[in-house]
Amino acid sequence: MPEELQKDPLTRRQFLWMGTLGTFTGVVLTVPSAVFVLDPAIKDVLLERSDVPAEWKEVGSVFEIPASEAVEHLVEFTQKQTYDAGEPAVNGTGAKVETMTNAVLLSWRDGKLPSVLSTRDEGPLPKTQIKELERDLNALSNHCAHLGCPVRWSSETQDILCPCHGGIYDINGDHTGGPPAHGLWHYVSRIREDGTILVKHEFYVQQKGQIGPGVKTKPYVV
Ligand code: FES
Repeated sequence: MPEELQKDPLTRRQFLWMGTLGTFTGVVLTVPSAVFVLDPAIKDVLLERSDVPAEWKEVGSVFEIPASEAVEHLVEFTQKQTYDAGEPAVNGTGAKVETMTNAVLLSWRDGKLPSVLSTRDEGPLPKTQIKELERDLNALSNHCAHLGCPVRWSSETQDILCPCHGGIYDINGDHTGGPPAHGLWHYVSRIREDGTILVKHEFYVQQKGQIGPGVKTKPYVV
């Protein structure tokens, strides 16, 4: 047998080089696909090209959230999107204003209906009751904290589930299983005297078991 066929086909240097190449290829293949599954707002925040005004948007009423369920409401935000050089300027500013639709999952802390809802009188909610409701309200982003897939409430398992890689969250959005590194993002929210819930396109991550706003983070950049 010729001598060259008896040699180890892969030298140590070649082996290390192939490892480096494999890592590089993995990054190249993974990053675009990860960005692809995120919605346009997330992609733009990652690319730091967009701007969503911090305006309050209505997403339903405290009287519509049942015990032991998370209900989904859609909310529209305006977004100023800046295009690369060479693309046509819009409104003479080089930016285009678009509307994006997000989903918010609304639930009560631990699925328990706040007592003020059953004992309150008709009419505007007093400030003390609003504070109590705001403390117990979960207004969760439906973007999985792993790679952004849309999560859904399951009445059957009483969990919030991600269909992509099996992420699991409880009714408070706390992470209970699968790859996500933390719980779902909470929208910054408030409640009006008539019970209307308002959210801003601003988010925070809540420590498990914590009540009220937790560690504020930049949306999706974690
Ligand atoms: S996107 Fe991976 S678990 Fe949700």
